[in-house]
Amino acid sequence: MRRIATIAVVATAGAAGAAGLAAWAMSGGQQKRLGQLIPYEDAQAVALGEAIYADHCAACHGAELEGQVPDWRSPDAAGLLPAPPHDETGHTWHHADALLIDITTRGTEAVVGRGYRSNMMGFGDVLTEDEILAALAFIKSTWPGEVVEIHNRINADSVTFSN
Ligand code: HEC
Repeated sequence: MRRIATIAVVATAGAAGAAGLAAWAMSGGQQKRLGQLIPYEDAQAVALGEAIYADHCAACHGAELEGQVPDWRSPDAAGLLPAPPHDETGHTWHHADALLIDITTRGTEAVVGRGYRSNMMGFGDVLTEDEILAALAFIKSTWPGEVVEIHNRINADSVTFSN
């Protein structure tokens, strides 16, 4: 009798757990994670990314993520766009994780195509996938909370449902 009671309690707890998980998913807990590939909440990845950013990105995007030049929206003498800021004044946070990873891996010329010319090279042969994710994680970790929230929503919206 006692054993049956224990099983009943475990079964009830299991059902409650499943219900709780479903409620969490419905309430947006899962929504927040949709499309999220950049580990900006992982302190180790962010620390690694800070070092990678300093070594591989800061020369163009600025030590403080401030961009190459104040007027980064205007093409230079060669007709190429300067490196934009990666802080909240730029437009890095307008793009979903998948696109940021693609740009950093393959470079802007390959991503845009149609003969577009850009100084943003691809780092796919220089950095590992984890190092690219870490560099982007560091960048995202510096954004103010409300920008992070908007970016999480952009990620979620970028995921298309097939069902
Ligand atoms: C040689 C200079 C240079 C280096 C080094 C460089 N970038 Fe860039 N990056 C650029 C330029 C220039 C652009 C703008 C390209 C364009 O729009 O034509 C850019 C654009 C980007 C974008 C798109 C931003 C947006 O708002 O659209 C991302 C993401 C990016 N870079 C990430 C990185 C990361 C991460 C690193 C280091 C691993 C890095 N870049 C290193 C020059 C550089």
